Amino acid sequence: MDDKRFIANRALTEDDGDVSLRPTTFDEYIGQDKVKANLKVYVAASKARGEALDHVLLYGPPGLGKTTLAHIIASELGVEIKVTSGPGIERAANLASLLTNMQERDVLFLDEIHRLNHSIEEVLYPAMEDFALDISTGKGAGATSIRLNLNKFTLIGATTRAGMLTGPLRDRFGVICRLEPYSADDLVRIVKRSAKLLKIAIDDDAARELASRSRGTPRIANRLLKRVRDFAEVYNDGVISLAITQKALTDMEIDPLGLDYNDMKLLNALVKKFDGGPTGLDTLAAAINEDAGTIEDVIEPYLIQLGFIARTSRGRIALKAAYAHLHVTPTKKATEQLSFLTDGSQYE
Ligand code: ADE
Repeated sequence: MDDKRFIANRALTEDDGDVSLRPTTFDEYIGQDKVKANLKVYVAASKARGEALDHVLLYGPPGLGKTTLAHIIASELGVEIKVTSGPGIERAANLASLLTNMQERDVLFLDEIHRLNHSIEEVLYPAMEDFALDISTGKGAGATSIRLNLNKFTLIGATTRAGMLTGPLRDRFGVICRLEPYSADDLVRIVKRSAKLLKIAIDDDAARELASRSRGTPRIANRLLKRVRDFAEVYNDGVISLAITQKALTDMEIDPLGLDYNDMKLLNALVKKFDGGPTGLDTLAAAINEDAGTIEDVIEPYLIQLGFIARTSRGRIALKAAYAHLHVTPTKKATEQLSFLTDGSQYE
């Protein structure tokens, strides 16, 4: 069977585009220092032993470089990588076909692994644990199962939702790495590196401004860099100055903290419509006409990082910093809730 179809078939995923900006070695990759340092050790050790690297699970919000890291791991291991995604695999036979074509020590990158159909997921268990495929033949009383050995490969799974993986699947990963939003300093370095690769002139203060409005996310930083370049070419002879960066970002409705229209919509709803919460995710999703998954994966992580909202067992609540940012005075009820929350003990 032609497994290229399932590879090509993959859904548009994180880091699509920007291929030329992608770092290709650990040393080029900026940020995620702890994850990178540990991965370097695991890669070096498995290479020295001549064994396949243990299966790796990368998780964290979109745009932080999970796909990039998977490619780097494969390239540092000196092996081939095959790329697919949970939604791209429609039948167990598709996955079986991919697995039987893996060469010794190669990497299979399975993006959005939490969206893999559970019945297909079961094919992965023996494949990950014993490098084997169990194929059943026949029906009823005559049904038997034959075991097909696979080459020893490394599965790299990526997900925005580690919590959505089943226990048996999560337990089969020997390496689990959580990617965190990037610091402003790291984003400045990424913006400057990308500008250099794209041959864009950018002032230091402009790079910092762009970085600080990128929600801790390199993909957003790189996207904004390209858009600000457009403004700079039209208004400023192509040089990205602080002034042109501020104009471009204001015109794109990205505020000084990097919050965009969707973030503000959520904050405004939670603070003004729901008096600071607690508000259930589905209620919030309906109120702002947004998908609950998008709220959890894309919108909330940065608002939580900023200390604007918190997830509690009773729902989402707005914190003091959110009121300050919106220039809204909390109501009496909201104030009581906020003072009750100061020790943080009832956070989820
Ligand atoms: N481009 C996107 N992410 C990057 C990273 N982490 N390091 C360097 N360049 C990048």
